Amino acid sequence: RTIYLKDYRAPEYLVDRTELTFDLDPYATLVKSRLSVRRNPDANGTDTLPALWLDGVDLELLSIAIDGELLPAHRYTEKPGGLLLNVDKSAFVLEVQTRIAPEANTSLEGLYLSNGMYCTQCEAEGFRKITFYPDRPDVMSVFTTTIVAPANYPVLLSNGNKIDSGTTADGRLTVTWEDPFAKPSYLFALVAGDLQFVEDRFVTCSGREVTLQLYTEPKNIGKCEHAMTSLKHSMKWDEEVYGREYDLDIFMIVAVDHFNMGAMENKGLNIFNSACVLASPETATDAAFQRIEAIVAHEYFHNWSGNRVTCRDWFQLSLKEGFTVFRDAEFSADMNSRAVKRIEDVTVLRTAQFAEDAGPMAHPVRPDSYMEISNFYTLTVYEKGAEVVRMIHTILGADGFRRGSDLYFERHDGQAVTCEDFIVAMEDANGADLQQFRRWYSQAGTPVLDVEDTYDMETQEYRLTIRQHTPDSPGQVDKLPLHIPVSIALLGRSGSALPLDSSGEVERVLHVTETCQEFVFGNIPERPLPSLLRGFSAPVKLRYGYSVEQLLFLMRHDSDPFNQWDAGQRLAFDALSSLQQAYRNGTELELPESLIDGLSAVLENTRLDPALVAKMLALPSAQELTEQGGEIDAPAIIAARNFVRDGVAKTLKPQFRARYEALNVQKPYCPTASDIAERSLKNTCLSYLCATGDQEMLALAEAQLARDDNMTDSAAALAALVEFGPADKAQAHLDAFYRQWQQDTQVVETWFGLQSSSPTFGTLDRVRALMQHSAFEFKNPNKVRAVIGGFAMRNFAQFHAPDGSGYAFLAEQVIALDKLNPQIAARIVTPLTRWRKYRAEQSTQIQAALKTVRDSGELSRDLYEVVSKSLAD
Ligand code: ARG
Ligand code: ZN
Repeated sequence: RTIYLKDYRAPEYLVDRTELTFDLDPYATLVKSRLSVRRNPDANGTDTLPALWLDGVDLELLSIAIDGELLPAHRYTEKPGGLLLNVDKSAFVLEVQTRIAPEANTSLEGLYLSNGMYCTQCEAEGFRKITFYPDRPDVMSVFTTTIVAPANYPVLLSNGNKIDSGTTADGRLTVTWEDPFAKPSYLFALVAGDLQFVEDRFVTCSGREVTLQLYTEPKNIGKCEHAMTSLKHSMKWDEEVYGREYDLDIFMIVAVDHFNMGAMENKGLNIFNSACVLASPETATDAAFQRIEAIVAHEYFHNWSGNRVTCRDWFQLSLKEGFTVFRDAEFSADMNSRAVKRIEDVTVLRTAQFAEDAGPMAHPVRPDSYMEISNFYTLTVYEKGAEVVRMIHTILGADGFRRGSDLYFERHDGQAVTCEDFIVAMEDANGADLQQFRRWYSQAGTPVLDVEDTYDMETQEYRLTIRQHTPDSPGQVDKLPLHIPVSIALLGRSGSALPLDSSGEVERVLHVTETCQEFVFGNIPERPLPSLLRGFSAPVKLRYGYSVEQLLFLMRHDSDPFNQWDAGQRLAFDALSSLQQAYRNGTELELPESLIDGLSAVLENTRLDPALVAKMLALPSAQELTEQGGEIDAPAIIAARNFVRDGVAKTLKPQFRARYEALNVQKPYCPTASDIAERSLKNTCLSYLCATGDQEMLALAEAQLARDDNMTDSAAALAALVEFGPADKAQAHLDAFYRQWQQDTQVVETWFGLQSSSPTFGTLDRVRALMQHSAFEFKNPNKVRAVIGGFAMRNFAQFHAPDGSGYAFLAEQVIALDKLNPQIAARIVTPLTRWRKYRAEQSTQIQAALKTVRDSGELSRDLYEVVSKSLAD
């Protein structure tokens, strides 16, 4: 069954207060709810009282009472997905008792157990697995939660402030929490366990003191410091940049090993995937440190963009997610290197979101329909949604954007609203017109910009002609032109940007609004080289016929570091596509000299930020190359990429060696931007050095691994040895590494992922063996993502083995996973949904694997939606 945005109707009833009591037990948790219900004055119904719908899934109903009187069976009907209740008054107290079995809950939605700890995940529709309730975000209620548990669960947490605690007559513990802020059920949370915590304080801008607590299993208590620091930075940043102050007396974070996503912003009680919060220098890589900082910030920022102002319905998901991703990206940019953060985000967007936009599940930032909302927590809603907010920021400027966000928060505090409300606030605060811009919310697909230019020496006029076009996507054809902000500069022969007007401005945002539009620049004294879409000012594919020389010039001179990097990427893309063609034609592959020259210059440029140098030296990934357009030819992509990588490694070996040695100095680990930058360049050099296969180079990696002073360097050295060293030695290093780290869940996840994603070592046989390893757990999403996801999503070479064995394997795992955890099954199947893009034989094999999934029996709604849409003609 499909749900449509156009069918939205306001709720018939509201719930002003929600009082919950949990009596915890693994197989028989008793949940009592007491709801103060009243007719919604704004419901567009008649004056007769309609039936009350309560969502409920996998619940055992024990009793229902209205105003203290038990309801006879004829007053309600149990239906699939919930309960329909006859109502005879416009306000009443509804009491419901249900029984649930957290131990049997492997979907990790609702209330479940993770390593003996009770925890919840309610977004989007998990609360209905806890009790019968109008489980929709436009029903906002003040929650009071009482938890009763045996004495071996000393920590009992829920949203808001603790208002009571004690011991029952039979020696059990009981705690009551009250959250004064009305919230939808998806923000409810409960945690119970034998946990320890670290504590800190934050004094807000108005002088209120907030207690900060981070809870983990005792063994992880030493891994909390970085997240705590990140939290304090986030709180300060949101005050300074958005004027947003925290609103409760306490803010808690809990780390949980079994979690479907990264983390969850439950009011006052954020719950995190352990991998996204726990870190120590010995066990976490730089990438993990930065991911943690970003996710802690993201969840914290939701307190305003998501909780204080929430979504009216799930079609509006990007209202909170797109905005909050934009907020966390800007935070990370302020804390670290802005250019590198932008490059990383754009790489994800171009690799995975563009693919989604061009695939069978393509949808607008605000979808029009869905079968299962969990399938719409996508790169489009999150990352493209953030790009859409970024474009508003670009169009209105920083001050205008801040005026808009101030108005948005003030006007809608305590409400459940829509993307439209957000745009209107932005318009109203600035007297701006975003009418055409709104199409970004409703049109799917990645727009393509074709740019041409002419220069007239006589008149000193330079003209840019920009055409836009958005390809059709499932259910959407003939798209209208968008309002696209295109930031540009014009570079002169000397490499510096030419003034665009008498004020001396050198960078300008062009507002592209028509299908074809011309921009004229006067007083341009020489033919310029355009630097287009600076900072990636819009989520589009931009085409301009740059020559090799022009790209080399931009790599050297562009003052926008993003475009400097992007010029190198374009050069590599072009070289790699010619090589793919040559491979297909059976002609001999020739090294692209100009690319190597460009990289050589970058490598020797010691004035550039080393992190930027590392990014510029990295070739586009195989996955990114599939986004070039045209049929995907996996063997050709692999052959071309390996050829260039090996060529670069051999040709530039002395330079790589020199920079590696210079950067390979011993100093205490610190995850600061500058140290991270140096390690990233050092390890990029190490990887190229090992790619030569030289004994001596592999020995450098062995020495680095043996030094063992931080996980970034150890994991990079191990990865290089696994990928480029002899298999028997790689195995020995892996075994030793495992023996050293087997007690540490996060390191074991890294260890799994490093093997399954290795294009040389991570064969299907080895991946199957990893699944038999004692540390592998099919019920744990992190392990599944590391081993199965690492193979299917990050190991292009082995997954696309010509015999199709990779596809068949993934189909088999998806079928098994769907029985336990539908959300994870529906995600990990993604590579199979892209079958249409591949060359004939691969395409048939992938499609066949997908059909095996379809025909395997009854599928969850999550998996059914993805599979059926991917096979639809
Ligand atoms: N709101 C969470 C976040 O982005 C993600 C929760 C996703 N849950 C889900 N079932 N898809 O921070
Ligand atoms: Zn979020």
